[in-house]
Amino acid sequence: MASVKLAQLRRTFGTVKAVDNVNLDIADGEFIALLGPSGCGKTTTLRMVAGLEAVEGGQIHIGNRNVSTLPARERDVAMVFQDYALYPHMTIAENVGYPLKVRGVPPADLQRQVQLVADRLQIGGLLERRPAQLSGGQQQRVSLARAVVHKAQVTLYDEPLSNLDTKLRLEARAFLKHLQREVGVTSIYVTHDQAEAMALADRIVVMNAGKVMQADSPMAIYRRPANTFVASFIGSPPMNLLPCKVDQAARILRFSDGQSIQWSQSVPAQASDEVTLGIRPEHLHWHAEPAEERLGAEHFVTQALGGESVIVLRLGEHTLAIRQFTDDVPVLPSRVWLSFDPNRVYFYGADGMLLS
Ligand SMILES: Nc1ncnc2c1ncn2[C@@H]1O[C@H](COP(=O)(O)OP(=O)(O)O)[C@@H](O)[C@H]1O
Ligand SMILES: [Mg+2]
Repeated sequence: MASVKLAQLRRTFGTVKAVDNVNLDIADGEFIALLGPSGCGKTTTLRMVAGLEAVEGGQIHIGNRNVSTLPARERDVAMVFQDYALYPHMTIAENVGYPLKVRGVPPADLQRQVQLVADRLQIGGLLERRPAQLSGGQQQRVSLARAVVHKAQVTLYDEPLSNLDTKLRLEARAFLKHLQREVGVTSIYVTHDQAEAMALADRIVVMNAGKVMQADSPMAIYRRPANTFVASFIGSPPMNLLPCKVDQAARILRFSDGQSIQWSQSVPAQASDEVTLGIRPEHLHWHAEPAEERLGAEHFVTQALGGESVIVLRLGEHTLAIRQFTDDVPVLPSRVWLSFDPNRVYFYGADGMLLS
């Protein structure tokens, strides 16, 4: 195991800045999730660490080695791919044992290690089969087993669960988390699925357009999104964002549809003319009656999801969501008044950065 350091990492394809000055310190044994929309540079970052993509600018350190220009096989990195990348002509045992064979581990020792890991992953009875004779979930575990057997300094995952159906994905997620607790290998895990990142990672690195938007623990990212990009990416549905103007002296918020509300809660000192108010759907509540500090909105639709309902509202041109935790489907009048949980309201400046 080893720490990993990315320093001013860059990679462009034509005019696309796929990875744009990424700095990241990953501790020994840490599990990091790179999270962001499709095309934000996650895979390119990972492939540069693996040595599958040339480093155009900056450096990659694994432990105390600068590996930036080393070939992949000299980096001591294991990679789990989305499509599993198993060798179709080899048996499962040969696939799992491949990293050990390359290293010259004697056959008896190799066999023992393969059996041990395969049993742990519940594929111990499939070792004589070939990949085509396995289900997607089983192939995915073979791919994981190969990475575990490798005992590399760093394990890299590129959306390894995204081809699995929901039930298998949840099982595999729990398994991976358990494995990480036990083995504690330094890991970089690429995903566009925020729930997966939240569930697995010690720290989430949110990326957009090649840049790091925020790097923090899952709960810190959820509780204090550093900017409107992270706020609108994390959460399901994500944080409601409403432009408004703050009148600090009169303690009034003015919204773009012409409404003003009295606001006795705290407002950051820098908040002035053009700000964006952020509130998570679970911290927004509806009422049938107006009040001084309540904001009027139109009920649009209610989605009953089982243990919770998502209520969608319109405020002028803006759409808002409320998450209400109940298995009774709420019935709303066509016009409602909204209140905000104190201390759960965020203000973002004109540049999209959190004001505090
Ligand atoms: N080999 C390549 N040639 C040209 N453009 C590429 C290549 N690889 C990636 N890109 C571009 O770089 C950006 C980042 O891609 P990628 O790292 O695959 O994103 P992600 O994994 O976050 O979806 C995208 O705009 C993508 O189209
Ligand atoms: Mg990708």
